[in-house]
Amino acid sequence: MSNRVSPVWHPMTQHKVFGPAVHIERAEGAYLYQRNGKKIIDGISSWWVNTHGHCHPKIVAAVQEQVGKLEQVIFAGFTHEPAEKLTRKLLSAVKSRFHRMQGKRIEFAFYSDSGSTAIEVAMKMAAGYFAQNGDPRTKILALEGGYHGDTFGTMSAGARGVFNQMYAPFLFDVAHLPFPHEGKEEQVLAKLDAWLKKHGEECAAFIFEPIVQGAAGMQVYSGDVLSKMAAKCREYGILLIADEVMTGFGRTGTMFASEQANIIPDFLCLSKGLTGGFLPMGATLTHRDIYKAFYHDEKSKQFFHSTSFTANPMACAAALASLEIWEEEDVLADVARIEGEHLKAAAWYMARPDVLDVRVKGGIFAVDVRDDVSGYLSSIATDIYDFMLENGVLLRPIGNTVYILPPYCIKNKDLEIIYETLWRSLDSLRNEGVQQAA
Ligand SMILES: Cc1ncc(COP(=O)(O)O)c(C=O)c1O
Repeated sequence: MSNRVSPVWHPMTQHKVFGPAVHIERAEGAYLYQRNGKKIIDGISSWWVNTHGHCHPKIVAAVQEQVGKLEQVIFAGFTHEPAEKLTRKLLSAVKSRFHRMQGKRIEFAFYSDSGSTAIEVAMKMAAGYFAQNGDPRTKILALEGGYHGDTFGTMSAGARGVFNQMYAPFLFDVAHLPFPHEGKEEQVLAKLDAWLKKHGEECAAFIFEPIVQGAAGMQVYSGDVLSKMAAKCREYGILLIADEVMTGFGRTGTMFASEQANIIPDFLCLSKGLTGGFLPMGATLTHRDIYKAFYHDEKSKQFFHSTSFTANPMACAAALASLEIWEEEDVLADVARIEGEHLKAAAWYMARPDVLDVRVKGGIFAVDVRDDVSGYLSSIATDIYDFMLENGVLLRPIGNTVYILPPYCIKNKDLEIIYETLWRSLDSLRNEGVQQAA
């Protein structure tokens, strides 16, 4: 290892084989700009966080105004206007989306600082709810293939594999239900019935990414099967944790993916797009019964969880401005426009012999590329990443799944550039394969 390497340790990066990090100086709309002025189309919304475009002027102004007034204050025992306003607006946005559905109304918001912590909080609240009510439950049910974050709790709930295998001895037991792929729904429901008969009354929560599992390679499943799974869990009093860290804020075509399953979860976990992708923030939204379980004369019964930057005022201001954009603009019309473009491209990609499957859901487009090694360690991910970047597009395939998940401001002409560059990238892989075989 040379002494000249940067001391910055990057996430999800094998530094020994990966070249130096791409230095980004500024960003605007769907574009990232390098120091040399080179423009890169951000085809993955900078890890799924950005919704309305980089440096959206309204959010920039809101953060600038806030930073000069109050940058941070302890949130235990203290509050501030951005948090109060955000909470009212967020809860009203949720209410307007879920008002026709059966279930307990979401009325409280607990803030943290990432997707992982939003989930961790929900898991703790669920387990705590039963313990506080004198009926402790020790099991958690999750979907196979799920990804809920990188803390020990969220790793336990997520899929076991290359991401976390060296920590397996430290992870607690979580039951995993097979993913309900199209055509397999009835089998999965039967498995769920069998599991619930044995363990339903010991289970505190069912955790799931509604409609699309992101890190599993943008795996799509139906709202109908999710709705049935949820109803079965409810029969046993199991709490529903909807991990909408990726799917929230329009990614799947509705503001929240849970809407497509017609369920009001007991916990709606948000992050990434909450601040429009500007600042780190997590929110765990829940109903009165959960809040009441921790509402007590005894201090020992309070909810024990905090992160130093809980409800940071600048993050709240960004989230508030982002929600105002949702009120002022037809954001979902842009998601529908992107979906329309994706569907046209999907028809072309389906015809390729090196493509195994194409999925489109809302603003998400995913292609599974034929490869000897499937899954996260497929080497074509790096080849495609390099090719795309050399041609001015940021895509970061998950193994042999290449996906596009752009900010909603992206223009159709830039989507075309992405589809066309990816097409050439797959051609170049195929040509390489042919040459190697010859
Ligand atoms: C569905 C889902 N849950 C949780 C997380 C973890 O979020 P964070 O990286 O902000 O901790 C992610 C991150 O990609 C995610 O996609």
